[in-house]
Amino acid sequence: MDHIVILTGAGISAESGMGTFRGAGGLWEDRRVEEVATPEGFARDPALVHAFYNARRQKAATVAPNAAHKAIARLQRDYPGLVTLITQNVDALHEKGGSDRVIHMHGHLAGALCAACGHRWEAPAEMHPGHACPVCNAPAARPDVVWFGEMPYHMEEIFEALAGCTLFAAIGTSGNVYPAAGFVQEADRAGAHTVEINLEPSAVVSDFAETRFGPATRTVPDWVDEVLARG
Ligand code: APR
Repeated sequence: MDHIVILTGAGISAESGMGTFRGAGGLWEDRRVEEVATPEGFARDPALVHAFYNARRQKAATVAPNAAHKAIARLQRDYPGLVTLITQNVDALHEKGGSDRVIHMHGHLAGALCAACGHRWEAPAEMHPGHACPVCNAPAARPDVVWFGEMPYHMEEIFEALAGCTLFAAIGTSGNVYPAAGFVQEADRAGAHTVEINLEPSAVVSDFAETRFGPATRTVPDWVDEVLARG
């Protein structure tokens, strides 16, 4: 059966007003990654890390899905084969755009995670250092997002999908962060056609068979139209 696997990154949410990580105006520009996106950074300064994710959580609550998120939801709805959607994004814009099956490999802003017992629950708008876990009571609540040095979520399911896919598309991701940046090679090994859809060439552009450059709100609906027309 035809099986499309789509990987999205910060670029798909850029035109919704969520900042990207790298490049001009990127989220990391004012902060070193180690300060806000590593377990060590959290241990060193939990107030700073909570403030960073509180701000992103509040921002995410105010933004709307764009034409690219909606086009992917349309593809999931109308494509006669299987469509697996994997995102590195921690916002919920795919869900808001109409997708109901989204694999959040880097976690999500809406979640809280107990660093002591692993319990997960819905994050309040603001998290603070010392926030207690509702199950084990340890003052160890953290955002349920994957930091550098941590294992991304759902990897078994993802590699299984890549091994069986016939078309792989990476959308709005700079190709700097593994394992996601290596998915194109897995798909290629599986014999899939591979396409990069991005504002500009990513760090792994040479691994793709096809490239389409431009803003996601234009390139993604165009690509979805073509895939659906091919059937
Ligand atoms: N349309 C399409 N692509 C865009 C747009 C747009 N309007 N605006 C920016 N881009 C592209 C940029 O050219 C860049 O290649 O989106 C990409 C964003 O790259 P990053 O900021 O590096 O985001 P991402 O690849 O998702 O980062 C991966 O790194 O910091 C970690 O965990 C974090 O999930 C994140 C991971």
